[in-house]
Amino acid sequence: NTILRKVDECNISMKFIKEASVILKEGGLVAFPTETVYGLGANALNKKASAKIYEAKGRPSDNPLIVHIAELVALDKIVTVVPEKARMLAEKFWPGPLTMIFNKKDIVPLETTGGLNTVAVRMPNHKLALSLIKESGGYIAAPSANTSGRPSPTKASHVAEDMNGKIDMILDGGMVGIGIESTIVDVSNDNPMILRPGYITKEMIEEVIGEVYVDQTILAEGDISQRPKAPGMKYKHYAPKGDLTIVEGDENVVVERILKLAEEKIAANYQVGIIATDETFGRYSIGQVKSIGKRSEEQSISHNLYNVLREFDDINVDFIYSESFSDGKLGVAIMNRLLKAAGHKIIHI
Ligand code: TXA
Ligand code: MG
Repeated sequence: NTILRKVDECNISMKFIKEASVILKEGGLVAFPTETVYGLGANALNKKASAKIYEAKGRPSDNPLIVHIAELVALDKIVTVVPEKARMLAEKFWPGPLTMIFNKKDIVPLETTGGLNTVAVRMPNHKLALSLIKESGGYIAAPSANTSGRPSPTKASHVAEDMNGKIDMILDGGMVGIGIESTIVDVSNDNPMILRPGYITKEMIEEVIGEVYVDQTILAEGDISQRPKAPGMKYKHYAPKGDLTIVEGDENVVVERILKLAEEKIAANYQVGIIATDETFGRYSIGQVKSIGKRSEEQSISHNLYNVLREFDDINVDFIYSESFSDGKLGVAIMNRLLKAAGHKIIHI
């Protein structure tokens, strides 16, 4: 059975951290909070431990894991070179929601990297996570702690829903801050490229290292023909059970269109969910309406995104209509997740 331990981030119980680190050192699985989403951790340098992650998540074995470290010196043991640009990004953004892809050393098993010769590394900005990594030998492989295809977990209860009975322990550190996964930048060659958008934006990265490329599949709409460079990005991730469509345009026309679409489905006896904002919530008079956050505070939207998708799963709606969130600094990251949840279905008015 899965052990559940509550840990206060301001007053971390070393007793529970030690208990968790013993499990990790013995090759077991421990879910833990980071500043982005909950991770499902295993000893990254133990191939049997990494393999267990794929089984617990039902994750395709070609989808590599992120190795979490707690100190910059730990990097040299697992990667062949740290390019100058990567060092600059690490100095600026670590610990923080940035993952970088490097060429790996042999010590990192192919089980951890999904068979690739590169390895993704990140230093999370979360006291509990950093403490756990240090106590457990310095290298924790951790994908998001959801069942493959479900929204990433932003609370311990989300992890429990998906992982109870399948992993050894869940460390409950409360709801995470950012709510969407880290930005991924490939720095393994001379042309750094963003493979997954996140809280650290293209602009923030370019301020440090100059021009970066962006994987063009990130905001693809409709049928995607090109193959994303991060293997995990090709799957229809974060999919809610209800059929999700995004509606984009000026606020008034969007509200009207969503109401019209909802009305049609309700008339045909379907259950309909609506993803609104604090600003528009009161204007939706039909369907199951949930506010995802304040449009004027875009961080509240990333913070609640996966939680709202899971809530719609719990109430079993058939169709979900969502407003669009492409404005603001986090717009690219939020829309990337929402478009994937929607199977890339979007109506532009
Ligand atoms: O915020 C986060 O990054 C969270 C927390 C737990 O740290 N972790 C997370 O892991 O989102 P996961 O497994 O859900 O996503 C990892 C992504 C996948 O899309 C995977 O394909 C990509 O990183 N990735 C990992 N290693 C890679 C590599 N060597 N080359 C290209 N993409 C890689
Ligand atoms: Mg994931």
